[in-house]
Amino acid sequence: MDERPERMKKTPDWEKVYSERNLAQIPWNSDKPDPEFIELIDSDKIRPYCILDIGCGTGTDAIYLASKGANVTAIDISREAIRIAGGKAEKAGVKVNFIAGDFLKVEFDNERFDFVNDRGCFHIMSPLRREDFAAKVSRVLKGQGFYYLRCWSDKQEYENEGTPYRISKDVIYRIFSKFFDVGEIRDVRWGGKGPWSYTCLMSKRV
Ligand SMILES: C[S@@+](CC[C@H](N)C(=O)[O-])C[C@H]1O[C@@H](n2cnc3c(N)ncnc32)[C@H](O)[C@@H]1O
Repeated sequence: MDERPERMKKTPDWEKVYSERNLAQIPWNSDKPDPEFIELIDSDKIRPYCILDIGCGTGTDAIYLASKGANVTAIDISREAIRIAGGKAEKAGVKVNFIAGDFLKVEFDNERFDFVNDRGCFHIMSPLRREDFAAKVSRVLKGQGFYYLRCWSDKQEYENEGTPYRISKDVIYRIFSKFFDVGEIRDVRWGGKGPWSYTCLMSKRV
């Protein structure tokens, strides 16, 4: 087990990121869902209907899921990201329930969702909030519901104060296995050719 304490990073000013940067300059932002995500949604593994997208940014995954007929709620702490996402959904002609707020603070009914999507929210959370984050994901999911994590991995060498935490497999097991059956952890590149990342589909233990 890798138990070295992690160096804490400064929390980015998310409002500033989305208000001041051109979308093309936001490294994680993409106007297409990742191929692995499309493959998962098109597979028979999960048939999600009621979905929560955490840290949805400008709404790309949420809009894709809504276009597939799902009932999607998507939350981001940045009001500007949510404003942009709302405009994109309108343009795409789909309905998404967008919420501007902190996932750890906004109240959701227990066991409301059957799928929670997380493209890059867990890996920017302070290590001190990780257990609360996992507990909350578990609480809002129905029994046997699925959580899909996409995070930077510890195989990624380059990092700086402004990049996400690099998450190890040990951290994934330690934080999530209390609540979830942690499935296969796959090596992928962020956005196809970017930083080394992991994806993992987990199901809530009942
Ligand atoms: C790396 S970005 C990923 C955004 C989006 N999922 C994507 O793939 O483009 C992380 C996102 O999490 C949001 N975020 C950070 N802390 C949050 C919190 N406590 N609750 C909800 N969203 C949060 C940020 O505003 C940012 O949009």
